[in-house]
Amino acid sequence: MKAALMSSAGCTNRRMKSGRAVRHLIQRCWRPGAIDVLHEAHGGKEATVYCCQAHPSTGVEYLAAKIYRPRMFRSLRNDAIYRFSRVQRDEQGQAEHGNSRRGSAATRKTERGRAAQVASWIEYEYQTQRLLYAHGANVPRPFAQIGNAVLMEYIGAVGDPAPRLNDVMLAQEEAQPLFECILRNVELALSHGRIHADLSAYNVLYWQGTVTLIDFAQAVDPYHNSDVFSLFARDIERTCQYFARYGVNRDAHELVRKIWTYHMGPIPELA
Ligand SMILES: Nc1ncnc2c1ncn2[C@@H]1O[C@H](COP(=O)(O)OP(=O)(O)OP(=O)(O)O)[C@@H](O)[C@H]1O
Ligand SMILES: [Mg+2]
Repeated sequence: MKAALMSSAGCTNRRMKSGRAVRHLIQRCWRPGAIDVLHEAHGGKEATVYCCQAHPSTGVEYLAAKIYRPRMFRSLRNDAIYRFSRVQRDEQGQAEHGNSRRGSAATRKTERGRAAQVASWIEYEYQTQRLLYAHGANVPRPFAQIGNAVLMEYIGAVGDPAPRLNDVMLAQEEAQPLFECILRNVELALSHGRIHADLSAYNVLYWQGTVTLIDFAQAVDPYHNSDVFSLFARDIERTCQYFARYGVNRDAHELVRKIWTYHMGPIPELA
């Protein structure tokens, strides 16, 4: 028996006003344009995700439009470990590299600087998703980034967005292969210079027996800053914890050590 749904994401027609604004934004800024916003798939603190009818030229039937709230800036994203582990852009659009701590502080002081930084975070999320999709990762196919919106393949059916792993009960026989699949994705990402850095059962969608990793908003580059080893370890630990309830018992520390040393060399604490 396949996974049983324990609770489904809210899916109503409320906020259709913002739905119209989303359609307007997309039609104005994205060449394939003409799409219809069908319903809200998720309304959260930081982002709203809409299910949209895709233009035939995209080759997919539905798109997910993830729209960040204006002026959003997650407090977590202000953590130095995230800030200094990726390229960000200042208000002139110039890249600020990982170690430019003074530059970043100056940029954050002004409204425009802050806005540029938020845009830079969203751009990084989109570019990460593009990179991983191009290398065959199980992530929604990304289509475009327009300001504070990211357009990507929609996972689920109309009115029935794919639940998160956290919201389903897996069949016993599914657990091991799904665990291996997530681990393969974590390793694939590391081998291409990315760590998800917020991986948990809340950021994995389950649909028709397959898993899709989402929400790369906090992704970091291990070549920028080796302090991110702890984020990599946490991603694997949370994955192991989740699957342990299904009897998938893997030693998280051993997996972390094996995968990191194979791709990155010595573990930072031991180096
Ligand atoms: N491509 C997609 N297809 C279907 N549903 C999606 C897709 N992307 C996101 N969602 C839905 O939107 C939710 C929020 O997406 P995501 O995790 O990327 O944003 P978030 O930054 O965590 O948002 P918030 O903090 O506001 O909850 C997901 O849990 C999922 O229910
Ligand atoms: Mg999320």
